[in-house]
Order: sequence, then C-alpha cells, then structure tokens
Amino acid sequence: MNIKLPKKTILTGDRPTGQLHLGHYVGSLRTRIALQDKYDVFILIADMQALTDNARTPEVVSSNIMEIACDYIAAGIEAKRTHIVVQSMVPELAELYMYLSNLVGVGRLERNPTVKAEIQLKGMTDHIPAGFFMYPISQVADIVGFGADLVPVGDDQAPMLELTNDIVQTFGGLYGTNVLKPVEGLYSKVGRLPTPDGKAKMSKSLGGALALDATEKQIKSFVNSLYPGMNGRRIDEPGLIDGNVILTYLDAFDPDVEGLENIKQRYIEGGIGDGDIKNRLLPCLLELIAPIREKRTELKKDLGYVKQCVYQGTQVGRERVGKILDKVKTSIGINHSDYIFKEYITR
Ligand code: TRP
Repeated sequence: MNIKLPKKTILTGDRPTGQLHLGHYVGSLRTRIALQDKYDVFILIADMQALTDNARTPEVVSSNIMEIACDYIAAGIEAKRTHIVVQSMVPELAELYMYLSNLVGVGRLERNPTVKAEIQLKGMTDHIPAGFFMYPISQVADIVGFGADLVPVGDDQAPMLELTNDIVQTFGGLYGTNVLKPVEGLYSKVGRLPTPDGKAKMSKSLGGALALDATEKQIKSFVNSLYPGMNGRRIDEPGLIDGNVILTYLDAFDPDVEGLENIKQRYIEGGIGDGDIKNRLLPCLLELIAPIREKRTELKKDLGYVKQCVYQGTQVGRERVGKILDKVKTSIGINHSDYIFKEYITR
C-alpha cells in the first residue's frame, strides 16, 4: 500500500528592515528555494519582531514588507508552493507568545548570545526595549505556531532553536500534550558571509552588503573591494586562505567545486593573483543576480501579483496557527469558550 505521508513543515522568517542581500541568500533563502517542492514551506515577514527595535521608526518596517516579498519571489520563491505570511496579520502568534513567555526565565533571556551581541551592535546598552529582550520567545511562538519541523537559518539563530525545544519540552511536561513539536535547525554550510573588508558579518544595518538586485556596476565594485587576506602580495608569492574574503565568496557561490579546489591549491602555492580569483568570482555573482534583478524590476512595475501572493499565503498561515493556538489553549485549560461559556457560543 502506498500511504502518502503529509509533507513536513518548514518555517523561517526575516525582519523587514531593508532589502535582502547576498548574506540572506546563502544563509537561508537558497535552502528555502531548494526545498519548496518537498516541504510545506512558510516564510514569515516578521514585522512584529522588526518593531522590537524599530518602534520609533515604524516606517522602516512598513515600507519594507513589499520590498522583501519582491525579493523572495524574484529570487525564486514560488507562491504556488510557499506561503509568504505577514506576521502582524496573524495576531494569534502574539497570543501564543504571551502563553509561552510564562515558561521562560529572565535569566535565560539575558544569556542569549545573539541578543547580547545585537544589544552591543545596536548601542542599546542604556535602553533595552522589553519587547526586544523577549523577541526570542516571540520567535519560538512563530516556530511552534506553524508546527514547523525544520527551520533553515544562519547559525546566529541557534539559541532561538534551543529555546524552542526547551519550551516545547516544558510545555509538554506541564500540560501533558504534544501539540507543540520539537524542531530541527537546518544550518547553511557556508555560515554568515563577511563584509568586503573581512572585519564583520554582512548585515543590513552596517553597510558592506550587496543587495539581491545590485547593478552590474555595483557587483563589479563589490568584487573589487574584497580583501584577499593580505596586501601587496607578489603574484609568485603564496596566497593566503585564512581571512581571504574572495575565497570565502568563491566557496559560497562558485558552482564548480572541483575547479575551485584546484585553483585554491595553485593559489596557495603562488602563481595566481588576487585579480585572477576575483575574475573567477565576478561571473558567478553576475549570473546569480542578473535574473533576480530583472524579475524584481518586473514585479515592482505592478505589485498586484505580489500582493495577491502575500495575502493568500497569510490566510493559509493564519488558519494553521489558529488551529494550533486553539489546541494550546485547550491544553492549558483556558479555552473558555469550549468550557465555561460553551452554551453561549454559536460556531
Ligand atoms: N530572527 C530572524 C532574523 O532576524 C527572523 C525570524 C523571525 C525568524 N521569526 C522567525 C527566523 C522564525 C526563523 C523562524 O533573521
């Protein structure tokens, strides 16, 4: 007998605070695109989470919702297969977050290394919004609210997944239910991309990022600016692998893995210049970005299609989260409409 098993669910999200860039692409977008056939994929445009550090500049968040949706679709996310969901249009997530927040100690939040790093980076040491401090719990609500099995993310998100599984365990133990499922992280092999100078990780706020719709000129000057690990090397001197940003990008984007290994070997032996490896990288990026840029320009001419995709995806998402929230409330014993007020409810 051929029993068709239900597809596993993938959930992942991005904060809409700017256009997506190459770092997002290798970190998780590429994985989502590759997996959308085999899994039930939900992508969350996490505007509520983005507000946790943009409450005073909400237009940064609202103006980037459709931008990021265009990025997804231009990069190859197909709305037929993947549900793109706007977080604030699923208020059930906020409700779930409320219940889960009672299961996490403040100390645990204080120790979250990703949040700690963000506080430093964003200069929040004097004023940490409580919502920001608690966003990992909101992210757990996202993950369990959609019933995710797999979460493709960069490794900076590992603490959120650990927290998810701890909350799932606590919740199950306390309320005797398995309505919340443990998850598995799907970490990209490449890790986070460095900025061109190699000093930081590519991020929206700090510059040094290459947008997914960069022009040819921008791509060229980006590749030119990549740091080879040392300055002033003569071509016959051995090249460096460690700290060589050009090679890191080749590792992430060169589809010819064997050819690349060969070049690397010759590069460390001496005889290959930094310009040569830049010339190898340039077409990889041009070919990756050109179709995304063209499709994005097309989509932006008439946002109707993108809006329709996002609206429909959000409806599907909302229904999914609603069902899980309902079970969560029943497990806790506060689904009052099912108990105390049963006879008053017409459904
Ligand atoms: N914190 C993630 C980021 O900054 C975005 C995000 C929100 C997310 N909700 C999520 C990622 C749920 C994975 C799953 O990129």
